[in-house]
Amino acid sequence: MGRFDGRAAVVTGAAMGNGRAMAVRFAEDGANVVIADIDDAGMAETARLVKQQEREPLTRRCDVSKKADIDALIAATIERFGRVDIAVANAGIAERETNCLEMTEELWDRTIDINLKGVFFTLQAAANRMVAAKNGGRLIAIGSIMGEWGSAGTPAYCASKGGVKQLVKSFAQAVGRFGITCNGIGPGFIDTAMTSMIQQGPAYEMLVDRTPLGTFGQPEDVAAVAAFLASDEARFVNGTVVFPDGGITAGSYSGRLAVAMDALRAGQKQ
Ligand SMILES: NC(=O)c1ccc[n+]([C@@H]2O[C@H](COP(=O)([O-])OP(=O)(O)OC[C@H]3O[C@@H](n4cnc5c(N)ncnc54)[C@H](O)[C@@H]3O)[C@@H](O)[C@H]2O)c1
Repeated sequence: MGRFDGRAAVVTGAAMGNGRAMAVRFAEDGANVVIADIDDAGMAETARLVKQQEREPLTRRCDVSKKADIDALIAATIERFGRVDIAVANAGIAERETNCLEMTEELWDRTIDINLKGVFFTLQAAANRMVAAKNGGRLIAIGSIMGEWGSAGTPAYCASKGGVKQLVKSFAQAVGRFGITCNGIGPGFIDTAMTSMIQQGPAYEMLVDRTPLGTFGQPEDVAAVAAFLASDEARFVNGTVVFPDGGITAGSYSGRLAVAMDALRAGQKQ
């Protein structure tokens, strides 16, 4: 028996990375999974992994920057599984090779359309079905530690993720009285395609040094939080963001500094 047996879970941006890990995790825990993305090959691979859990997923092309695609996704979910219990607004992009001074209108609009408008209408479409079904439900939006910080290089991403945090609070108030919760996950640096450029450069060592747990996270670390927030155990958790980030937002930590300070203290004791 899995804790999500008989439930239907929709995950956007599920062709790879965090979305794939969440789709597979929900299937492991017994859910019927809907894999939504714009990447057909990636979705096929996620579907293969879900099938290994003896679940037959629905794979659906959906560009979350288009409300009509999202509405069709939720309608297809109902048609296939008769319900939607868990919806994860995960699809997102991070702008690269730009900064505050060079940001173009086109890149700004694209980032906000996918990361903020897409999250809003995914939550809205799923929430309306959940309210109508009177069965409760779980809405989850994927934010980021960058929703807490600013970054000269990714201003639209930071703005969109800060916005996701506020959407979570608004939806929590809108749906709570229907027995539906809305929460966010704000991952730190996770080992996915989105961070592959960082992982190949010198910034990687610096970010690992700033992380008290001394490593990037894995998509499964994000999926574990999603599984909790989607579960019955999280029934009183509403309107908050959980940060699987290795402690990087805990303060101005430096691993090298911590080692140096330990050495200093050890020297003083001698
Ligand atoms: N990787 C990290 O370090 C990290 C950190 C914090 C937050 N996040 C967030 O986690 C989420 C997933 O990121 P990831 O790291 O797995 O990235 P990823 O690039 O590996 O995967 C993103 C997925 O979203 C899909 N996507 C992009 N545009 C889309 C659209 N318009 N409609 C539907 N799908 C679309 C892509 O095809 C891809 O499958 C994002 O919201 C991201 O901002 C990631």
